[in-house]
Amino acid sequence: MEGRTLHALGYNLAVSLTQTSIPVSPRIGRFSYAIRNIVVEAQRVEAAGMNVRYLNVGDPVAFGFQTPAHLMTAVERAIRDGHNGYGPSAGILSAREAVAAEENEKGWPISPDRVFIASGTSEAIELALTALLDEHGEVLVPNPTYPLYTAVIAKIGARAKYYRTDPARGWIPDLDHLDSLVTPNTRALVVIDPNNPTGAQYPTAVRKALLEFADRHGLPILADEVYGDLGYEGRVAPLGSLDLDAPVLSFSSLSKAYLAPGWRTGWVSIGRTPRLDEVATAIRKLADGRLCSTIPMQYAVTAALTGDKSHQVSFRAALKERATLTGERLRAMPGVTCMTPTAGFYAMPRIPLPPGKTDEDYVLGLLRATGVLCVYGSGFGLPAEDGYMRIVFLASPDELNDVYRLMADFTADFCR
Ligand SMILES: Cc1ncc(COP(=O)(O)O)c(C=O)c1O
Repeated sequence: MEGRTLHALGYNLAVSLTQTSIPVSPRIGRFSYAIRNIVVEAQRVEAAGMNVRYLNVGDPVAFGFQTPAHLMTAVERAIRDGHNGYGPSAGILSAREAVAAEENEKGWPISPDRVFIASGTSEAIELALTALLDEHGEVLVPNPTYPLYTAVIAKIGARAKYYRTDPARGWIPDLDHLDSLVTPNTRALVVIDPNNPTGAQYPTAVRKALLEFADRHGLPILADEVYGDLGYEGRVAPLGSLDLDAPVLSFSSLSKAYLAPGWRTGWVSIGRTPRLDEVATAIRKLADGRLCSTIPMQYAVTAALTGDKSHQVSFRAALKERATLTGERLRAMPGVTCMTPTAGFYAMPRIPLPPGKTDEDYVLGLLRATGVLCVYGSGFGLPAEDGYMRIVFLASPDELNDVYRLMADFTADFCR
């Protein structure tokens, strides 16, 4: 009888436990990636019958730009040649050699054993931040930022500290503010140049000042150079090329300049300074733990970096045309300010919000009224009441003209 009672008790306990929600880590509450979170609302709007224009994600393929044929041939061939097993954690040698050779050619000499191929720039960034941080660590992150940085830092349980970039001066970093944020726990400086979300490119003097700042404080620089080949006036030199012995880790990928974001293939290149030896060892160790990134796609890295790059010439021209159109059309809206981007495919206008309204109110209102989906500036770290938003301007000029017409009408109503 006693046994049966216990059994009954146990059974009841099991029932009540299955009805209790399984708790998740409190870190999840601090993890946010607005660029995709906002899609839930867009899908609701779409389900209600409205055509949604997804100007939230920077994916050139979604807007008709095509992955170069020789990259697809390289991946196809790799699959047919049987490169379908696991590969080296650091990436296949030919890809690492191609990345190192290209960095050399751009004026930043590094060796292939300082290159790690990863599942996009995204995984490379996560590997680097994990290698550098514990839960007391602080990272200096630009504001506005590409939100992966703050998301991964939250996931690790460390702390992001935003440094200002100044919209009145082409969104360049505020070096005095940077200086004021350094503490004994500061572990790294993130520099995104050319920048997402602002479309800025930093002048050489600013880049040198950032290197000097990092050197003064003994900080490694995480240089996000994923848009480095998409400066409209030509490729941007790697930050590391301005000081060959600076502790720079540079990130890039096939996603943007090689039009293959779905392949999830990127890399981190680590500067030659012995100060980064332990970081390279730590990244290697972490990379071992996830076996390797997709192997067939790694065969496209050599094809991309050593092969025909003429698609970049036409892509840059298309981007420049769209950037000019975007700047002009946005600034023509009463009260709206916007810097014309000089690289990449993002613009960050400021909307003159009425009192009490937030950037999210504006962006959701725009979505519901017109089907145009952008991302609110607070998703990138800016104050919600400042009224910034990010537009991806990869759509055709005709479609962009439609979008800006809809936006002008909506903004006139909203900001009345
Ligand atoms: C600044 C920046 N860094 C990293 C990434 C991630 O790119 P990947 O596709 O290489 O992971 C993006 C993607 O939009 C980006 O804009």
